[in-house]
Amino acid sequence: MKTLLSLTLFILSFTSLSANENKVCQKCHPLIYKEYYNSIHRKSSLANDSIYKAVYEKESHGIKQQNCAACHSPSAKTQEDAQQAPISCIYCHTIKDIKEGKQENKNVLSGKKRDFYTAQADKKNESKVKYGTTSSFFGLVKRSKNSPYHQIEYNNENYYNGNVCMGCHSHVNNAHGFDVIMLDAYIDKKDKNTCISCHMPQTMGSKTTLSDSKTHAYHGIAGIHNLSESLGKYIDVNVEKTPKGFVVKIKNQANHALFGQAYREGILQVSIQRAGKTIELKPFLFKRTFGKDAKASMPFAATAVLKDTLIYEKKNINYDTQLQKGDTLTVFIGFRLISQAAAKELHLPNSAELTKVKVLKTESFQF
Ligand code: HEC
Ligand code: HEC
Ligand code: HEC
Ligand code: HEC
Ligand code: HEC
Repeated sequence: MKTLLSLTLFILSFTSLSANENKVCQKCHPLIYKEYYNSIHRKSSLANDSIYKAVYEKESHGIKQQNCAACHSPSAKTQEDAQQAPISCIYCHTIKDIKEGKQENKNVLSGKKRDFYTAQADKKNESKVKYGTTSSFFGLVKRSKNSPYHQIEYNNENYYNGNVCMGCHSHVNNAHGFDVIMLDAYIDKKDKNTCISCHMPQTMGSKTTLSDSKTHAYHGIAGIHNLSESLGKYIDVNVEKTPKGFVVKIKNQANHALFGQAYREGILQVSIQRAGKTIELKPFLFKRTFGKDAKASMPFAATAVLKDTLIYEKKNINYDTQLQKGDTLTVFIGFRLISQAAAKELHLPNSAELTKVKVLKTESFQF
């Protein structure tokens, strides 16, 4: 009874809501809040992302019609929100549906502040799930179930197949019809993995302090900034000898092109260890070069793609170095958040950090 009473007081204290609505969620979901706080979805605003800010400022004359904030900071009503919760917990958890559009998609929100969508396979048909208590030992021990703060809706298919991500992540076309994100993402019922299973994998720790589940969905977003090495397992690499040398065969298990963001640069480095020495071969870069009037241009001004070496479903890269018996060949796949050329052009203050090569995967092969 005592716990129930203090819980009631605790909930009453929420009536004095702070401007940052995520703070309420933090009280009962501290682990998820902490992960979110370090995620790209908290750092996506002009206030928090120096790359986005530099592009926004450099291209702002040509992009007036496009509402950048609709995806980068849809819940920021104040400057504090822009720093603390540009894409808030409530925003994502009230996406009811996705409206498809030519230039970009849009999120359709439920508009409810205490009724959240989520996914849990064993409860898929349940809706309007409210807080309740169960008692055992003739009513002597009371246990609470579900949330005393909000209702839960488990029956929205978009949270199971990953479509909830597609309001922002499907495409962003510039004024000339070019997709500057070009994830080329496509959701297929037959896919074994979804946006959510790859980028929000189940991680140790309870999803709330009011009950103890062993795991919860990782809200730090495994990706380019966090846990990138854990994503390497979705990129298969193989090496085969050819008459001239060898070929590195890459197979992409993701349902989107890799390194799709306009300034991203994927890197393949191959080295051969032979008789105690290491031979480094010329790195191969995975990137797109945008252009206008046959010259390289900023993405939002582009009218053409001059060069595209991204990894779509598969990619083979040929080398004309002959392999010898006893060679160990090491394949490294990594990326730069932004290419060195683009960092220079955008005059980014922290460019050394942004252009550092980060690892997705390394694998060795014996010959
Ligand atoms: C008073 C505590 C409390 C507060 C405040 C709270 N929650 Fe919860 N929440 C819970 C509990 C308890 C559950 C049920 C977890 C379970 O299924 O065991 C839950 C479940 C959820 C779920 C579904 C999880 C699942 O798999 O069942 C979501 C999504 C969620 N909360 C989001 C939020 C958001 C967003 C906020 C802030 C606006 C918030 N919660 C605030 C206690 C709280
Ligand atoms: C429909 C949603 C949407 C709109 C509208 C949108 N963006 Fe984005 N933007 C995204 C997504 C999603 C990403 C992440 C892409 C990725 O990582 O592959 C992104 C990434 C970026 C990046 C790369 C940031 C980084 O740190 O790597 C820049 C720069 C950017 N957007 C600029 C803009 C500008 C400027 C506008 C307005 C003209 C805009 N975006 C409008 C969804 C959007
Ligand atoms: C409200 C729009 C929005 C929604 C909804 C959204 N994202 Fe994002 N996401 C963004 C933006 C904007 C960025 C890029 C921010 C930047 O780089 O400044 C981003 C970046 C990312 C990245 C890149 C990670 C990194 O480290 O750079 C991944 C992965 C990602 N989102 C996955 C997801 C998944 C999975 C979902 C669905 C559960 C989702 N997003 C839903 C807007 C959104
Ligand atoms: C980018 C969108 C996005 C944002 C932002 C977001 N969530 Fe989630 N959240 C999801 C998705 C999608 C799931 C379902 C994951 C799954 O299938 O297990 C989820 C699951 C959950 C769950 C259930 C965990 C589980 O393992 O089942 C809770 C609780 C939750 N979110 C709370 C929060 C809180 C609190 C915040 C803010 C600190 C937040 N979410 C921000 C998309 C988001
Ligand atoms: C099988 C696992 C897998 C699935 C499914 C998957 N991804 Fe990815 N994703 C990856 C890997 C691996 C990378 C790292 C390589 C890269 O940056 O493209 C990545 C990178 C990303 C990035 C950053 C791209 C960049 O370089 O800017 C975004 C954004 C993203 N994914 C969003 C999504 C969305 C949205 C979905 C659902 C449509 C999705 N992912 C489905 C594995 C997956």
